[in-house]
Amino acid sequence: MSVKVASDKSTKKVQSILNFTDNNIKKTITCTICEMTYNSKLPVDVDLHKKYHLEFTNGISWPNTLTPSNYLAQNFNLVVTETRPKLGKLKSIKAQNIVKARIIVIDKTNKRQIEKVDKILKMVNQELNATEDSKQWRNLNFKNSKAFVIVINNKAVGLCTTDTITEGKWMIFKNQKLVPNQTISGVKIGISRIWISPRWRQLGLGLKLLKFVTENSIYGQSLFKNQIAFSQPSSNGGKLAKSFNGVLHKSGEVLIQVYTEDV
Ligand SMILES: CC(C)(COP(=O)(O)OP(=O)(O)OC[C@H]1O[C@@H](n2cnc3c(N)ncnc32)[C@H](O)[C@@H]1OP(=O)(O)O)[C@@H](O)C(=O)NCCC(=O)NCCS
Ligand SMILES: [Zn+2]
Repeated sequence: MSVKVASDKSTKKVQSILNFTDNNIKKTITCTICEMTYNSKLPVDVDLHKKYHLEFTNGISWPNTLTPSNYLAQNFNLVVTETRPKLGKLKSIKAQNIVKARIIVIDKTNKRQIEKVDKILKMVNQELNATEDSKQWRNLNFKNSKAFVIVINNKAVGLCTTDTITEGKWMIFKNQKLVPNQTISGVKIGISRIWISPRWRQLGLGLKLLKFVTENSIYGQSLFKNQIAFSQPSSNGGKLAKSFNGVLHKSGEVLIQVYTEDV
């Protein structure tokens, strides 16, 4: 960041500017929610973080023009139960809201959609501390590898990108260790990245997205849950995988299906 220096070149002024710069370096912080690193002493940085943080937690703008109403999508209602805090003598209440949501399949020839997904993926990779993904979702040579987006109130609040795979491995849920010398054949689709914006987590959207992936990845074919594997699941990703297609092994361990992503 550049700092404007006043034209007065007295030694005292220069020194105070140096001190200021020194102070700035020490004020670099990383937000524990969106993982953005910024300088809390620089208004420009603070504003940038505020904007990014809001998009990260609530979703990224997804105007109607990106996906007109006749665009291939699945519409559904999401029931959100909110607990309103107690007000004076009144007890806390539970209120139910019904929110309209859509899941769309990204069109690989639509530049604007691709750009938006790239923007969301950057946020996801930053949160997960992950490297680049395989990018099969945007490659026309992999027709079954896709990107799926959940849109609520003109905001993209969820994303899943997939890979085409032929082999998986078992991972022990508890300690994230791979089961040696065993492969799973018959898997067809790999979950490269799956992400729901924090405000919309634990409402069933992750599972909804996975179900949609099984039904809309291969034309004319609905996949079984055990044909889906996950790329390096995070701790929340592991919980989602366990709930979606985890298997209880006779040893008592829960196993989840994973694969190695080609980057
Ligand atoms: C992983 C993630 C996509 C889950 O999305 P979600 O919409 O919250 O998932 P769901 O509400 O559909 O939850 C499905 C199941 O997963 C489990 N689960 C998900 N998040 C959990 C959490 N934080 N704590 C406990 N269980 C959790 C639960 O078993 C839940 O089933 P339930 O209905 O029996 O409680 C979301 O937490 C996320 O985006 N995390 C950051 C990115 C990430 O880690 N991605 C995974 C990379 S592999
Ligand atoms: Zn933040």
